[in-house]
Amino acid sequence: MIKLAPSLLSADFARIGEQIAAVEEAGAEYLHVDVMDGHFVPAITWGPKVVADLRHLSRLPLDCHLMIAHPEEQVDAFRQAGAAIITFHVEATSHAQGLLTHIRESGAKAGVALCPQTPVAMLEDLIDDCDLVLVMSVNPGRGGQAFIPRAMEKLREARALIDRRNSRCELEVDGGVGEQNVREVVAAGADVIVMGSAVFNGGDPGGKLRRLRALL
Ligand code: DX5
Ligand code: ZN
Repeated sequence: MIKLAPSLLSADFARIGEQIAAVEEAGAEYLHVDVMDGHFVPAITWGPKVVADLRHLSRLPLDCHLMIAHPEEQVDAFRQAGAAIITFHVEATSHAQGLLTHIRESGAKAGVALCPQTPVAMLEDLIDDCDLVLVMSVNPGRGGQAFIPRAMEKLREARALIDRRNSRCELEVDGGVGEQNVREVVAAGADVIVMGSAVFNGGDPGGKLRRLRALL
């Protein structure tokens, strides 16, 4: 079962209720919420208040992707705001294993993200404590970038690790995915597909999501 997770980064926040209703109606499984702090990545997006407000707009799990420095200082606030999945970057904290455990104990699913330069081997000693692994297929920070080809091989490596360890971890891919490569990332082992610009750019997000699903 492949899950589609539209990224709200490319949505129109002046009409966010409408846009969320459209993708929910079209069968999205998660809403992917990109949190950026102006430090770990240059851009700034939104914090726990916006997550709490989104919580009232949809019953879909909020898949919060924290692109922030010192995520250990912020995860509780995002959990209290209603995040169902909290994913932080392994490059952004010193004690990733402890943070994964803390997130799980808070009742959320715990995810760890890898930037394009971070090898899958970083997951060897984290995989048993993860509910989700996010392989970034662009450099984090903005939507609409081109898929970095090496990420396809990293998905295969991460899938092999997850299977070898009998982990129930989900494997999420994020960045540069659309009609042109959605089948390929699934074939490489991804089972949660984040798509921002491919769903929201140019209008009709519900129709776009349905067309992407039909390709699978
Ligand atoms: C980028 C974000 C992505 C972004 C993907 O740093 O993590 O979730 O929205 O956008 P697209 O699908 O347009 O590459
Ligand atoms: Zn993301």
